[in-house]
Amino acid sequence: MCGIVGYVGPGSTLDVLLGGLKRLEYRGYDSAGISVINQSGGLQTRKKAGKLNVLVEDLAGSPMADAHIGIGHTRWATHGAPTDGNAHPHLGGEHLKLSLIHNGIIENFAELKAELLAAGTKFSSETDSEVAAHLVAREYEKSGDLTQAFRSVVNRLHGAFTLLCIHEDHKDLILAARRNSPLVIGLGDGENFLGSDVAAFVEYTKKAVSVGQDEIVELRAESVSVSTFAGEPVTPKEFTVDWDASSASKGGWPSFMAKEIADQPQAVGDTLMGRLASDGSVKLAEFAGLDQLSEVNRITIVACGTAAYAGEVAKYAIEKWAKIPVSVELAHEFRYRDPIIDAKTLILAISQSGETMDTLMAVRYAKERGAKVLSICNTQGATLARESDATIYTHAGPEVAVASTKAFTAQITAGLLVALSLSWLRKAMPEAELKGLGKELLKLPRQVKKVLDSVGHMRDLGKAFSNAKSILFLGRNVGYPIAMEGALKLKELAYIHAEGFAAGELKHGPIALIEEGQPVIVVVPSQKGEDSLHPKVVSNIQEIKARGAKVIAIAETGDTQVDSVADEVFHIPVTSPLMASVLSVIPLQIFALELASAKGLDVDQPRNLAKSVTVE
Ligand code: G6P
Repeated sequence: MCGIVGYVGPGSTLDVLLGGLKRLEYRGYDSAGISVINQSGGLQTRKKAGKLNVLVEDLAGSPMADAHIGIGHTRWATHGAPTDGNAHPHLGGEHLKLSLIHNGIIENFAELKAELLAAGTKFSSETDSEVAAHLVAREYEKSGDLTQAFRSVVNRLHGAFTLLCIHEDHKDLILAARRNSPLVIGLGDGENFLGSDVAAFVEYTKKAVSVGQDEIVELRAESVSVSTFAGEPVTPKEFTVDWDASSASKGGWPSFMAKEIADQPQAVGDTLMGRLASDGSVKLAEFAGLDQLSEVNRITIVACGTAAYAGEVAKYAIEKWAKIPVSVELAHEFRYRDPIIDAKTLILAISQSGETMDTLMAVRYAKERGAKVLSICNTQGATLARESDATIYTHAGPEVAVASTKAFTAQITAGLLVALSLSWLRKAMPEAELKGLGKELLKLPRQVKKVLDSVGHMRDLGKAFSNAKSILFLGRNVGYPIAMEGALKLKELAYIHAEGFAAGELKHGPIALIEEGQPVIVVVPSQKGEDSLHPKVVSNIQEIKARGAKVIAIAETGDTQVDSVADEVFHIPVTSPLMASVLSVIPLQIFALELASAKGLDVDQPRNLAKSVTVE
């Protein structure tokens, strides 16, 4: 939600701002705008409802002089419709010399707005953000100290915010503040950047600094100074961005989603790299940040959306291999129901962006109650990583398409590593078995590649079902979260009714939905092992076939039983039952991608969705 970019330096501010906003488009937005300050012409602002190209065309029609300082914003509407007037930046002060952009929600804006209205301030938008612009400008007009004015205002705001502010009187200074919303600094040579995430400036610099909670940044071309809201200086921690700009481009693919699906062998391989020895032993160096891990008696996984389904797979793996009880909680439900947490609880927070507000709030809630936090995160410098005791980074590279694909398979991979590593640590399984599983895991990137090489049939099926009104998904064990993820992909991309069910639940209700021609995709469990659920799921297929369902099965190679009962079968390589989750989701991703593309929909930026949900 809301993308933010700031630049001060000798380069082309317009290029940096528009390029940065383009790379932040994936966050989801419905209007865009920029402000720059020219040495001669003063503050200039341009903002437009709609996609970034509307703003770009407007700028082409009536060009704006370039500058050496500026801020840019893409807005995902919360307070007020997506109109030109409500788009950011917002101007403040009697002579409108101050420009401000905001990501988040200012919860006490009504009270602050009433105060400003009583003092005669005129508003030109319905947003909560404009209040902050006027407040800072008013304080500055009183004191003549911009930083002090900014500091006093951010201390009055409640809620979530990243704010960036520039003023015509200060042609070399961007002020920024953050509370509960993301902000990263990019350090250049004689130039500096600000962004909601590193994608905003990765084309120009790989040196970055993440800004902590309740901190203020004074950014100039030659200097960066960080302090707390209270005014205490902070020594910021630098890190090197390991993404390159080209990895955040489509690279010849028709969509980011298509590219990111194809990136999965590498995403899975990079997530395993350095963590799994060739003899199959696993040791996560990241566990060093967690003392008393051997005393943990319960793991609670908190996450939202796709990440929560990766958490479900991790739960099966941790319980089976490490023998620790696990529950998976939707982060937004978790902290509102007095969950039982103590110092022996380990919170495993999973988030691609590391900025999902619900997940961050759940983590903070658990930490206040003494729990330790381990996170699985894909974004360096993210708030979640800063606030966790230890972080396992998935090395999936930037994920731009709103619907998660490679981050999901990388999250499952990281979850499997956590489960194996915990099992080694607690000696929960014989070493030989653990090594066997580790060796199986090493094969996963190649198997993912194999699946991708054979998805042609799934593409055709996606196109063939483009007129379907509803598609159901069934699975058992780890196939159940995969069924739910398959359904989520279809809802997100194709806007059709799709639901994932536990196949065992079929007879308890969902079977009533089956009628002639109803498409059902079934994730069939592995045939391996005495406790295999394979025969039960084959029976389920027969039950729904008998009632007219059209069945597409995802089954392992050599599963002749399924071949004879399903209408269509997509085969995945044989692997350990838990690891099959990574392979079986890929045909479902392809199915959703092709079905939505056949309907002519934008698969990278589906309607109403944001990549990173930074408000509650
Ligand atoms: C949003 C996105 C989903 C994503 C979820 C969690 O809802 O649209 O694709 O799964 O957030 O995101 P996270 O960054 O925490 O993994």
